[in-house]
Amino acid sequence: MHIEKAIEYFQTHQETMTQTYLDLVKIPSVSTATEHKADILRAGEFLKDYLLGIGLDRVELFPTNMHPILFAEKKSANLNAKTLLVYGHYDVQPTDPLDEWKSDPFQPEIREDYVYARGASDMKGQVMASVLALESVLKTSDLPINVKFLIEGEEEIGSPSLDDFIKTHKDLLSCDMILNPDAGMVGKDQPTLVYGLRGLTYFEVRVDGPKADLHSGLWGGNVANPANVLSSMISKLHNSDGSVAIPGFYDRVLDITEEERVRIASNQTSEETMLENTGVPMLFGEEGFSALERQGARPTLDVNGFYSGFIGEGAKTIIPAYAKAKISCRLVPDQDPMEIFELAKSYILSITPPTVRINIFLHSGGPAYLADDAPGAKNLTEALSAVWQNSITYKREGGSIPVATVMQRELGVKSLLTGFGLPDDAIHSPNERMYLPNWYKGIQALIRFYLSFGETSDAS
Ligand code: BES
Ligand code: MN
Repeated sequence: MHIEKAIEYFQTHQETMTQTYLDLVKIPSVSTATEHKADILRAGEFLKDYLLGIGLDRVELFPTNMHPILFAEKKSANLNAKTLLVYGHYDVQPTDPLDEWKSDPFQPEIREDYVYARGASDMKGQVMASVLALESVLKTSDLPINVKFLIEGEEEIGSPSLDDFIKTHKDLLSCDMILNPDAGMVGKDQPTLVYGLRGLTYFEVRVDGPKADLHSGLWGGNVANPANVLSSMISKLHNSDGSVAIPGFYDRVLDITEEERVRIASNQTSEETMLENTGVPMLFGEEGFSALERQGARPTLDVNGFYSGFIGEGAKTIIPAYAKAKISCRLVPDQDPMEIFELAKSYILSITPPTVRINIFLHSGGPAYLADDAPGAKNLTEALSAVWQNSITYKREGGSIPVATVMQRELGVKSLLTGFGLPDDAIHSPNERMYLPNWYKGIQALIRFYLSFGETSDAS
């Protein structure tokens, strides 16, 4: 039978395939860092060459203002075949703080069945799983669907080129189904389908005081300290019950329905697991909601980075010239990312004292996503359940994949959001990792998924 032959092909090539994945992970394709521009291109070319090598019909790297977008396609011999579009990103987050890594982030090391490296889980693992599953199918049987790949290099910086690309390449990207394996699973034994994602508004605030760092003895008491001012402003962004204090912030937030509460609660993840995964002594969040509700269905505001003054060893007595904070809001339907930016900006301006100058600018934004029953869901859930021997967990996820909303709007197709990473994979953190047995299962599940569209695929 087709499935068995393809899985057997994967199993006999498991070692070289794993090596290919590690080779991709070795390329430091950090999209936010300009010094890695050539590495991003190298990662795109690596995938392009690999896809050409396994026989895709059309493989093209489209240049953008920043990092290229890879498109590839393999047509089925069946002229009536449905078309699946697989989305992925080959860029990764920065590695800092580098000191915290136990091994080099771009020299993948396998320890106790985990691959440790930046991008191992988010999401070179999932990109390669999608590609290697297709390779296993192509080598052993006829492909029952048309498969397209859209793999970008700017996801981790908010996909600045992708919207336009999708809008101007609708025919190229036309499809019946979209697989987006950039989400994850809730536990090792729990294959997961994500039906909601939060949106994002990311901005930066800069407070300028004196024209240079000043002696704090000579000037302390007469000059407002930008670090003091900015921290006091930040403290006004939340109310004491954990809610966000920006006026209008919650105006468009859709309430969680009773049905939705039940669905969210069906996820078995306990608060103890969350404490373990994060290492905090106690969870914190908005009152009146469960941890899983707060994660997927409530908006938040967080400082992602704060910089001011002297941060070297020892002590230095200064009043810093400026203070900066990087701030992001996770959004839920129907909040609008630009409107939230405007609301945040007006509120922050309204609480800025006249003793400093302020500058607020937007980095990126993207809407939330909430949708049931993307086309192909039955095929995918059956494939995942067959491999993991367990039923599917449905999750409203807290992370953001804005492209899902863009594709729904521009291509008219909802996304199948899944993945093989785990909540304790430390994505965006030091010592990011991927659990290899899961990755192997993921490849097998995708083999089943691709082949599930063939009329004869379940006849032996
Ligand atoms: N893969 C993640 C998002 C994710 C992780 C979704 C786990 C579901 C489960 C993605 O690469 C990511 O980190 N996205 C950014 C988006 C932003 C830069 C626009 C995020 O969520 O911070
Ligand atoms: Mn990702």
